[in-house]
Amino acid sequence: MAAISTRKLSEFVGAEILDVDVDRLLNDDDLPSACLEALEEYGVLLFRELHIDDHAQVAFCRKMGELVRSPNFAIPEVIEISFDPANPNAKYYSSNDHWHFDGAMDEIPAKAAALTARVVADKGGETEFASTYAAYDALSDEEKERFADLRVVHTFETIQRRSHPEPTAEQLADWESWPVREHPLVWEHRSGRRSLVFGSAASHIVGMDKEEGRELLADLERRATAPDRVLRHSWSVGDTVMWDNLGLLHRAAPFDRTKPRRMHRTTLVGDEAIK
Ligand code: OGA
Ligand code: MN
Repeated sequence: MAAISTRKLSEFVGAEILDVDVDRLLNDDDLPSACLEALEEYGVLLFRELHIDDHAQVAFCRKMGELVRSPNFAIPEVIEISFDPANPNAKYYSSNDHWHFDGAMDEIPAKAAALTARVVADKGGETEFASTYAAYDALSDEEKERFADLRVVHTFETIQRRSHPEPTAEQLADWESWPVREHPLVWEHRSGRRSLVFGSAASHIVGMDKEEGRELLADLERRATAPDRVLRHSWSVGDTVMWDNLGLLHRAAPFDRTKPRRMHRTTLVGDEAIK
């Protein structure tokens, strides 16, 4: 088999995969590479109400590459995204409602992720995606030239301050224990495509007045995530969404964090440094 039928979900990002059920997901050995290709093309793949369990999610994702493992969860390849106080990772997701890519402070960020909705919010809690390849392509020639050598500093503190503007000493100490990472603003990928690298971890631009750099980053984010450039997915229980973490920003729309919303994420290890 192999060929998959798709339906585009928006102009710049996303496609629904129409002809894959659990049986095909687990048994069509050509599917993983077809999905990786579709991911490169569309940025986001939606498997609507596929209802896979954790084991099926891990089995399928493993065929696409090495998986990130977390010691905090019973199945180390399946991370719970929720604000449940019992979730050991919950505190790290407080700024998930700001545009970001995962692992901005990593030397080699995660390649992609698969997220399955287990419990959805009554209201809000959609996940939004915007292409940073499309954001680069939309720059003027003058901007492409001006941004070519800019470098951006990314820190965990910058992410966290967006939701905790007045941190405690303990929070600050935790945040400062994370690595600080400098990335180019324009990433020329191995594929030859270019994308912009910014998001909630982006603190400032090297060698530029801090305020001026922040304004430039905010302006780029506004343009990249203008409503007509965003795919907003409203979750049903059992939906699985995969995203290319390298050419996209994503965020969760606000919802009542005291009520349950639980997603199970499996993450593919990256194999390309940002440069
Ligand atoms: C993530 C993430 C957004 C959401 O899993 O990395 O940012 O909608 N999730 O839960
Ligand atoms: Mn994320």
